[in-house]
Amino acid sequence: MAMILDGKALAQTLRAEIAEETTKFTEETGVVPCLAAVLVGEDPASQIYVRNKETACAKVGMGSKIFRLPEKTSEAELLELVDELNRDASIHGILVQLPLPRQISEKTILDAVSADKDVDAFHPTNVGLILQGRPRFLPCTPFGIQELLKRYEIPTSGRHVVIVGRSDIVGKPMAAMMVQRAEGADATVSICHSRTRNLPELTRQADILIAAVGRPKFITSDMVKQGAVVVDVGINRTESGVVGDVDFEGVKEIASAITPVPGGVGPLTIAMLLGNTLKAAKYASMK
Ligand code: GUN
Repeated sequence: MAMILDGKALAQTLRAEIAEETTKFTEETGVVPCLAAVLVGEDPASQIYVRNKETACAKVGMGSKIFRLPEKTSEAELLELVDELNRDASIHGILVQLPLPRQISEKTILDAVSADKDVDAFHPTNVGLILQGRPRFLPCTPFGIQELLKRYEIPTSGRHVVIVGRSDIVGKPMAAMMVQRAEGADATVSICHSRTRNLPELTRQADILIAAVGRPKFITSDMVKQGAVVVDVGINRTESGVVGDVDFEGVKEIASAITPVPGGVGPLTIAMLLGNTLKAAKYASMK
């Protein structure tokens, strides 16, 4: 039976560390780190995420400003808000919640967010810096996963990390991070996706398997090597509740360690966002 990698408990530890660091920073500089979150439209999951981010900021002594815009907002209107937030010195981190309504190009908006305030690390400059191994911000979900592996002392150097999913938010940056010559990385990395042939053959080679496909219980026990570490990024809302991308019941019998859903990767994502917001405030104060 696999060890459960308790993301919820780790997130609590990280938040306590960030709260302490925030207090110290505010005492020294008089600056309260502040996150601006922009939500366009009524997507129910996004509403919950944004509210959670607001609560999380308050708990660690950070400010937050939530901008709720109607579904019909034009790209020009959203760009105008982003520009305003870029210029507002009291805002340190900017997060535009995805997905955006179809009339708005996500790329156009993400390109417009100042790279210095880009706490999601979605700006091309920040993506490039990650690839080159000199990151400014790390994207919250892959950052949380790397921190989870580090804190549970799961070795990654020379290990085969197989990532299922090639999204810009998780799969691609996760691969870029794990392949670096760096602590908590140094892995051999494979990225699999919907066009991959013989997927189970590849996933069975994984020492660390990261599932980020967005399909409920997609990874089954026959796809996992005995003793592998399995990280489940999925949050799939089904009739029987929220389930991950991994068939937890089956896979936990094979894996040496596994993240649950909920209580695994999810809570870490917000903790890393707080860490990035503090970092952005520190950058701003050095200028
Ligand atoms: N939508 C789903 N995940 C994310 C994320 O990490 N950041 C933002 N801004 N939107 C998301």
